Amino acid sequence: MMSLFIQSVQLDPAAKTALFRQLYGAIKQAILAGTLQPGMQLPPTRDFSLALGVSRQTVLNAYDLLLAEGYLLGEVGKGTYVHHQLPAGAVPKLPGTLGVSSSGADAPGLSQRGLRYADTRGQSRIHQDKTRVFRVSMPGLDAFPFDTWARLEARRWRHHEDQLGYSDPAGYLPLRELLAVYLKAARGVNCHAGQIIITSGSQQALYLLPTVLLDPGDAAWIESPGYRGAIAPLLAAQAEICHVPVDAEGLDVGYAASHYPHAKLAYVTPSHQLPLGMTMSLQRRLALLAWAKQRRAWVIEDDYDSEYRYSGAPLASLQSLDQSGNVIYVGTLSKVLFPGLRLGYMVLPETLVAPMLQAKTTIDKHTAIVPQMVLADFMAQGHFGRHIKRTRKLYAQRQAALLHALDTSLKDELVCGASDGGLDLAVHFKRQRDEQAVVQAGLAAGMELRGLSHYAMSPELAAAANFSAGLLLGFSSVTEAEIEQGAATLLRVLTKMK
Ligand SMILES: Cc1ncc(COP(=O)(O)O)c(C=O)c1O
Repeated sequence: MMSLFIQSVQLDPAAKTALFRQLYGAIKQAILAGTLQPGMQLPPTRDFSLALGVSRQTVLNAYDLLLAEGYLLGEVGKGTYVHHQLPAGAVPKLPGTLGVSSSGADAPGLSQRGLRYADTRGQSRIHQDKTRVFRVSMPGLDAFPFDTWARLEARRWRHHEDQLGYSDPAGYLPLRELLAVYLKAARGVNCHAGQIIITSGSQQALYLLPTVLLDPGDAAWIESPGYRGAIAPLLAAQAEICHVPVDAEGLDVGYAASHYPHAKLAYVTPSHQLPLGMTMSLQRRLALLAWAKQRRAWVIEDDYDSEYRYSGAPLASLQSLDQSGNVIYVGTLSKVLFPGLRLGYMVLPETLVAPMLQAKTTIDKHTAIVPQMVLADFMAQGHFGRHIKRTRKLYAQRQAALLHALDTSLKDELVCGASDGGLDLAVHFKRQRDEQAVVQAGLAAGMELRGLSHYAMSPELAAAANFSAGLLLGFSSVTEAEIEQGAATLLRVLTKMK
């Protein structure tokens, strides 16, 4: 089978597409078509390059890409294999799409589209129990002015008049007007209320955008490691997912533009990369915008927690630099207020407003109106600004407590990543550690730990992306005393595991 496959590979040196991309495409097609079965070993790069009459680097580049996308498994010196989780016969034979992973493929009666929705690589972890130390991405509810919120909501119910029928799919107009003013002042976002659509959490925006903007097989850049909430809708949209490494300056635009120039969309968290926490440099922002303009590609800017910045110069939003209307700005109230509110928004270039409004209407007519009204009152009466100011100070203190522990008791065990802002801090192990074992031991000790490899979609991708193992530690939702105790417990867990 393998020798037949090798013979079938036809590479065209005169074609516009680079040789490694041609080879990558041929191997991927063979995997999707079931010609190369899960677990099959691929030829060593040297043998394959000799058989094809191309350089070894060409084969290495093709393997690297397939390893990064999860089609292949392998380690230097131990061979390269077709990933065993790819259900050969069950995978839709679309050009340039990923195979379905795990349980989704086993569910009976699913459509091809349904299989994409069920793909477990997009699965987020949802915590519903009591908040425990180091929970990620969770605001401090102890600081939320529930009395004020309850008073504003009660007033809305007393004076409901004719507000409670169906309303504008774009959302409550006074709220959109207030948001436009806030986003201009706080983030430099250029927009008016007519460009804003209120969504049910930013998740709905992250779902609607690829659904409306991408055809099956269209390529999309995502940060690797990156946010699963953004990956899941891309899987559902049958996009070719292009994993782009991040470094101290954020998404590596040069890498992405040379490996995946054909992409139609890029998803980025430029203010505070999830999970590693760096801010995208100005050079990278300009390079990303130049690429998007030239390729007429869309950029989704997910600005999920930029309100919380504790040091370093604040950078305005990417959208504020965009002269060509390629950037779609997505925001959420989940970090500034609380996730259960399920309010988010997107700021669209004018041309996208009408189609997005129709798409929004199709899925849920509009987002629940009363929370929007209460939020509008909360903003108009100044509570919103005061809450941000108060929590920024509080979270800075909580972060300082964690940084202190990392700098003292935990300093032989963990290295701290970027710490300019946000609700979480990425830390890396100083010695070789089994990340999952640490997470499990932490759970058993009463903590909530999240391994960084969760953001890589698969252990193979984590290895391919070459980022070091570690944890994402949330600090915003618990007190300084709980953080100190948590750090002591974490130290005990790590010491015991040596
Ligand atoms: C990168 C990123 N974007 C967006 C969100 C917020 O999602 P939602 O608005 O749907 O609650 C989160 C929450 O964890 C996040 O980490």
